Amino acid sequence: AAEQDLAGRHVVISAGGTREPLDPVRYLGNRSSGKQGYALARTAVARGARVTLVAGNTELPDPAGVDVIRIGTARQLHEAVVKAAAEADAVVMAAAVADFRPAAYTTGKIKKVEGQEPEPVALVRNPDILAEVSAERARRGQVVVGFAAETDDVLANGRAKLARKGCDLLVVNEVGEHKAFGSAENEAVILAADGSETPVPYGPKEDLAETVWDLVVPRLADTER
Ligand code: C5P
Repeated sequence: AAEQDLAGRHVVISAGGTREPLDPVRYLGNRSSGKQGYALARTAVARGARVTLVAGNTELPDPAGVDVIRIGTARQLHEAVVKAAAEADAVVMAAAVADFRPAAYTTGKIKKVEGQEPEPVALVRNPDILAEVSAERARRGQVVVGFAAETDDVLANGRAKLARKGCDLLVVNEVGEHKAFGSAENEAVILAADGSETPVPYGPKEDLAETVWDLVVPRLADTER
């Protein structure tokens, strides 16, 4: 087994994607598979942590030894993460959270009307969970990690996002054809609030997960167990 450097620690991980319902049969969603968050959960368990996994809309089976909370929408994810974060040493937000949700939910299925154009879908903002958890730090010394998928100016956008969100570490992925979403492999740069950059070469999502914990562990030093 791996070194038990997360023994006695409680980590909260979000995984998968949110779905924002429009009506009883339709939603706005994204392509997150949940694989990266599940890899984080498995590796944290192997390193001795107590793990709470807040999982959105994934086909993946519950990992052994993990407390799994299933959610659907960003607002449900928000509630579950904030509650679990109250007792966490580290919070890792790997979930793909919808930035917006439909302003209104239609209780009956939206129907097409002959000779009529569809109604536009108005959107409203969802809460930014990562920014809120970073600002609140429910426990002293709590370490907060975010993920960011970028298509261009990856590092510059990543740096700006790290500062804006106020987290300790930001795992920045370049989104491309065979990278990140759905794939079992990933490639990233992990940016730290202290200015350091850790490149993680293309490889299994487990490897990236291990590097995240390698960077989280020394930052936990000040947390009360
Ligand atoms: O702003 P952006 O969506 O690129 O940021 C991605 C990071 O922020 C991820 O860690 C994601 O889980 C988190 N996030 C969040 N709440 C949102 C949107 C994103 O916690 N509403």
